[in-house]
Amino acid sequence: MRKNIVAGNWKMNKNVIEAQQLMFQLLQYKKNHTPNCEIWIAPPSLYLMMAKDLYENDEIGIFAQDMSEYESGAYTGEISAAMLESLDITGAIIGHSERRQYHGETDSHCNRKIKLALDQGLTPIYCNGETLEQRKSGKHLEVVKNQTEVALFTLSADEIKKVVIAYEPVWAIGTGETASPEQAQEIHAHIRSLIAEKYGQEVADDISILYGGSVKPDNAKEIFSQPDIDGGLIGGAALNVADFGKIIEGFS
Ligand code: 13P
Repeated sequence: MRKNIVAGNWKMNKNVIEAQQLMFQLLQYKKNHTPNCEIWIAPPSLYLMMAKDLYENDEIGIFAQDMSEYESGAYTGEISAAMLESLDITGAIIGHSERRQYHGETDSHCNRKIKLALDQGLTPIYCNGETLEQRKSGKHLEVVKNQTEVALFTLSADEIKKVVIAYEPVWAIGTGETASPEQAQEIHAHIRSLIAEKYGQEVADDISILYGGSVKPDNAKEIFSQPDIDGGLIGGAALNVADFGKIIEGFS
């Protein structure tokens, strides 16, 4: 179901004490405010159980930053969808550009992971987006089309409705350079129209598409006000509750 979401991707940051503090501060924030969006976090996997213990009433959605493309077995270092499900974790980020860049992940891997996640009742946050070179050569629409088709278009209509998409242009991640609201809206509308062509408008209108890439307190509101942008996947600014809270308040 389409909803407004602000999700924090903590990446490989924070020791256990710092992580616990931030989780606690976020819980306090949620108790003292009435946000107009869902609040999700993706801490390092080591801390997922701690989040689960703290957020007893599911006040905040808890996501892994990645999960295995395999069901189970001899895959050292991996975490399976079934393991996440057994901890009652909300879902997993899949296909983040840092996984693609440093770990060779492709959209075919994403496709397998998304299916496994859905089979376990988890919510996948599927990330895509073009590189700077691809944008400069005018290929961004084509790149995102291809990514979306390969990763998602083997799903049924019922399945794709359960996926959250995050458009994260690689050139905007951690660089301080943000896609303009118009640039982001163009791609979000493009992704939604691709889904509408394949699955029908009703299905496309039911899917949340988040923007990620240097979202900060001072640009969140304008980005979130675009018609096809349903929230954000936040990196650096999710690491402190003051900034993350202001971004959440972008939905006022
Ligand atoms: P930044 O907000 O630090 O640019 O990171 C975005 C991101 O990669 C979220 O997944």
